[in-house]
Amino acid sequence: MFSRIFAFIAAMGSLAFAQTQYATTVKPLYADAKSEKVIGKLLPTAKVEVLKTDGKRVLISIEGFQEEAKPAIYFVAGKRILNAGFDGKAGVKFEKLDSQEIDEKIYNKVKVQVWTDNADLVNDVEALYAQAKDMYEQNCSMCHGLHPVKEFTANQWPSMFKAMAGRTGIEKKDYFLVIQYLQKNAKDMQ
Ligand code: HEC
Repeated sequence: MFSRIFAFIAAMGSLAFAQTQYATTVKPLYADAKSEKVIGKLLPTAKVEVLKTDGKRVLISIEGFQEEAKPAIYFVAGKRILNAGFDGKAGVKFEKLDSQEIDEKIYNKVKVQVWTDNADLVNDVEALYAQAKDMYEQNCSMCHGLHPVKEFTANQWPSMFKAMAGRTGIEKKDYFLVIQYLQKNAKDMQ
């Protein structure tokens, strides 16, 4: 009986291990479980693996592409769709997984382990994109026809969106969620 309970608990433990989650908003990143010093930001819809929990913090692993030695991790190589950005002076260690060259620039596929608050993380990224799509469609068609998401490239959308967002009822905390949705569905994304 007890061994069965232990086997069950062990199975639960391994299920809870390395859970794929997505940030719902811009989240602060820390070097450890206790420090209040913010060393970076995680962007909404960025995929992370939750490795362990310690009090109100979780240790996460973020993967993506780094342009040369810039302290940022991008969703794909060569486009400015941020997964996470870091304070250049924080000395964050990027583990290099792979390397590729695009237009004479080196992009490293990297992975980094950092801490964040155990909040504003969900496992359903599609619901997040649906929420962003709704906000875009309802707010950006009030004065003129809705501009197709495919009208602009991933690198053009952030400034285009920011130039217009102030005229809408979209809350500032949701700006980056809508920007991520627009960038990930842009003209130059498949
Ligand atoms: C309050 C009215 C209003 C709302 C809401 C609005 N727009 Fe506009 N938009 C305008 C006007 C007016 C123009 C004409 C150019 C200008 O005034 O800057 C324009 C122009 C544009 C253009 C063309 C710019 C160019 O250089 O070709 C785009 C793209 C655009 N809006 C996207 C958006 C998006 C995305 C949103 C939602 C975040 C949005 N608009 C919300 C009023 C609005």
